[in-house]
Amino acid sequence: MSDDLTVIVLAAGGGTRMKSKTMKVLHPIAGRSMIGHVLHAATSLSPTRIVAVVGNQREQVGPHIEALVPDVVLAVQESQNGTGHAVRIAWESLPPEARTGTVVVASGDTPLLRGESLQAFVEFHRSSRDVVSILTGIVARPHGYGRIVRGADGGVEAIVEQKDATEEQARIAEINSGILAFDAAFLDTVLPRLGNQNANGEYYLTDTVGLARADGSTVGAFTLEDVMETEGANDRAQLAVLAAEMNRRILDRWMRDGVTIIDPSSTWIDADVQLAQDVTVLPGVQLLGATVVGEDAVVGPDSTLKDVEVGAGAKVVRTHGELAVIGAGATVGPFSYLRPGTELGADGKIGAFVETKNARIGDGAKVPHLSYVGDAEIGEGANIGAGTIFANYDGVNKHRTVIGAHAKTASNNTFVAPVTVGDGAATGAGSVIRRDVPPGALAVSSGPQRHFDEWVQKRRAGTAQAKAAADAAGSGAGPAGAAPSGE
Ligand code: UD1
Ligand code: CA
Repeated sequence: MSDDLTVIVLAAGGGTRMKSKTMKVLHPIAGRSMIGHVLHAATSLSPTRIVAVVGNQREQVGPHIEALVPDVVLAVQESQNGTGHAVRIAWESLPPEARTGTVVVASGDTPLLRGESLQAFVEFHRSSRDVVSILTGIVARPHGYGRIVRGADGGVEAIVEQKDATEEQARIAEINSGILAFDAAFLDTVLPRLGNQNANGEYYLTDTVGLARADGSTVGAFTLEDVMETEGANDRAQLAVLAAEMNRRILDRWMRDGVTIIDPSSTWIDADVQLAQDVTVLPGVQLLGATVVGEDAVVGPDSTLKDVEVGAGAKVVRTHGELAVIGAGATVGPFSYLRPGTELGADGKIGAFVETKNARIGDGAKVPHLSYVGDAEIGEGANIGAGTIFANYDGVNKHRTVIGAHAKTASNNTFVAPVTVGDGAATGAGSVIRRDVPPGALAVSSGPQRHFDEWVQKRRAGTAQAKAAADAAGSGAGPAGAAPSGE
């Protein structure tokens, strides 16, 4: 028999119970769509081909599937006449020479399905003489599922759907997960024989089981201990249950791999996140997308990082970050907002109430307090004073600011881009820097300080402020009466 493996993923159903403009299988769990998880499991088998059946909102679903599996075969089911009809369309979309080997049918809404389980099921089917095998589960509440009907010898006789089940059959706890494996030759002959004489008037894929038995062939059942793996989400309540369960599994895996997670109940980690050994995740953290965290880094509490690379030994406290790179040993937060294109060098610092965007901040450079750094390049070892604004937007275009290596800029500066501050340069407090500063120069732009003596006593007479001023002048305390002075 051929080693060909075809995986057919069914995703034509409407998923109306989601009550969403987003098609059911596109709803995300742990950073991937539900069908993305199923396709991930399917591709881990290195199948010869994957066929996806799309129908409802196929203009949404089709391109999503193609982006994940570029060589997928998309088959279109115009009207949803049942799972048997959907598989027939998938099967007939393949050229005759591809209709060989083993065929696995899965549905697009079982995000917890693991590749290892699918692999074990395929091996079970291949090593048997059964023409069709069913992945089954034993569940406490079988209502709604197709039931596995076994004969006196324990062999599988049929799958009976909920609506067609007798009272006695309805009590059977073994259910059809919806995942089946077929010999291609059997599938070829059985699909055209499926009828729709049932309570739903649909072509049931599950009727292939009874037809196999009628042919005198045998049917296998492979029971998966972990029934959650084959559970689908039909509405958002079930989606949340599956998402929580997947998160629990992901956290469990990372903790076994040497990551400290202080509070699993408030930690969310997406499926594609990568964590090194001895990472510590404090309470209230979401690590999303393709986030990568290096060894000994500490993230949290209360931080959300999406597609962020955190270097080894870095500390990220109460931070929201997206598409950013944080260097090894760097510190970020508390209350920092790292927007796309932020790159903080090794041992650098982005401190409290600092927003950064499209900014390369060099090794050891620091932006410690209350600043906006947009479209900037800050050289290594530079220090940006508290309350600095990189004025990157002139209302029409965005411009870049360059701060040289080891430059020290003072508090409350505004850099009006495009502008360059040279290496080792300095600025005075409150400066608005509009022109380039040569290396090593001190730039000041605020005017000299002037004093209008006894201004308060004259203009705010009768106030507590004026009284305090007069008292201080009378006692000779403080600098009152000193000569008007500049800086
Ligand atoms: C199906 C099984 C049932 C099993 C259950 C497991 C059949 C007849 N019944 O029932 O034994 O216990 O799954 O969840 O197979 N789909 C299409 N085109 C269609 C109809 C369905 O692509 O015309 C897709 C759906 O999008 C879904 C999958 O097939 O991904 C299963 O369809 P669904 O309607 O959910 O089947 P169930 O009634 O749950
Ligand atoms: Ca279903």
